[in-house]
Amino acid sequence: MDGNGRWAKKRHLPRAVGHQRGVEAVRTLTRAARQMGVEVLTLYAFSSENWKRSEDEVSDLMGLLKRFIRSDLDEFVANNVRLRIIGDTSAFSPEIVALIDDALARTAANDGSTLVIALNYGSQQEIARAAAAAAEQGAITPETISAHLDTAALPPLDLLIRTSGEVRLSNFLLWQAAYAEMWFTEVLWPDFTPAHLQDALDTFAQRERRFGGR
Ligand code: FPP
Repeated sequence: MDGNGRWAKKRHLPRAVGHQRGVEAVRTLTRAARQMGVEVLTLYAFSSENWKRSEDEVSDLMGLLKRFIRSDLDEFVANNVRLRIIGDTSAFSPEIVALIDDALARTAANDGSTLVIALNYGSQQEIARAAAAAAEQGAITPETISAHLDTAALPPLDLLIRTSGEVRLSNFLLWQAAYAEMWFTEVLWPDFTPAHLQDALDTFAQRERRFGGR
C-alpha cells in the first residue's frame, strides 16, 4: 500500500493525512475484494523496517491501526471475515496487542473470507524464523520451511499488487511470491479504487500460469 506520503505531498498536506486517506482506501478495498470473491487479502500495513520512520509518523500509524480495529471489527464479525496477522506483533504496545488478540479471537470461527494484516512484518526475518523452527524439528526442506512461515495456514499467494510506481518487493512475502503473478501500477495507494483491483484481477485471469512446467 505504497504512496500515501506522495499523495499528501502532491496536495501540500501532512503525511498523516495521506495515511488517513490510505485507511479509507483499505476500508473501500477490503469491502470490494470481498464482493469480488477474493478469498484472502493480505495488506502490508507496517514493515519491520518502518520503525526507521520518525517517531511522529510511527505514532500516527499506530493510532490509525488502533482506530481501524476499533471501528471496523464489528463489520468483519458481521460479514464472516476472519482476521489474521503476519509479522511479529510482540514489539507493539500492550494496548495494540490486546486489541489484536481480541480481534483475532472474535473472528477465529469465521470462514467467509480472510483479511491478513502484515504488521512489523519482514519476509527475510520470517524465513529465518521458519528455517530455525524447521531445523529444531529435523530436516530443512522447502516443505518444512513453508510449514513454519507466518502464512502456513493460508493458501498459496496468487497475485501480488504494488501501488505507486515502485517495482520491487521490499521484504514482502518473498518466499510466498515464488510463483505469484505480479501487478504494478503507478496509482498511489489512496487513489487505488475497486476498478483498479478489478483491472488487476482481470489481468491475472488472463495470465497463463505454468509453475515451471510446460
Ligand atoms: C506506504 O506509503 C504506506 C505505509 C508505510 C503505511 C500503510 C498504512 C496504512 C495504509 C494505514 C494503516 C493500515 C491499516 C490496515 C489500518 P509511504 O508512506 O511509504 O508513501 P510514500 O512512499 O509516498 O512516502
